[in-house]
Amino acid sequence: MKKSLIAAAGFAFIALSGQAMADADLGKKIYDRAFGRGCGACHDISSNPQLRELIKSGALDREKFGTVLKEGKNGMPKATGQIMSLGPVKKAGVTEEQAIDAVYEYLSK
Ligand code: HEC
Repeated sequence: MKKSLIAAAGFAFIALSGQAMADADLGKKIYDRAFGRGCGACHDISSNPQLRELIKSGALDREKFGTVLKEGKNGMPKATGQIMSLGPVKKAGVTEEQAIDAVYEYLSK
């Protein structure tokens, strides 16, 4: 009984860590491919918001990030339709929230 519990916990851990890695990987694909040239086409320009730094400093939480992706903001186009139409996203079969999580996860690293 004890042994099987430990084994189950081990499997859960492996499954969870595998999932987290897959998410960041998918997030990178989204970041590199959305809008054809990727989010970086605009966000790697220093006058536009520096997403990694904003997330790491705590200035851009997951909720705000998701809202901007869904609704757009001034020069920032709505992105969720774009994201959901990408090949790797379709292949992963994730929901819109999971796809946003993946990009956020990637940018948090
Ligand atoms: C066409 C250029 C362009 C592309 C492509 C683009 N963005 Fe943006 N983004 C902007 C601009 C400009 C702003 C600043 C909007 C403002 O605050 O006026 C912005 C703002 C944001 C913000 C809000 C930052 C904040 O602190 O308010 C997030 C989050 C964001 N972009 C994420 C993304 C992601 C993720 C992608 C790729 C899926 C992406 N953007 C693609 C131009 C772009």
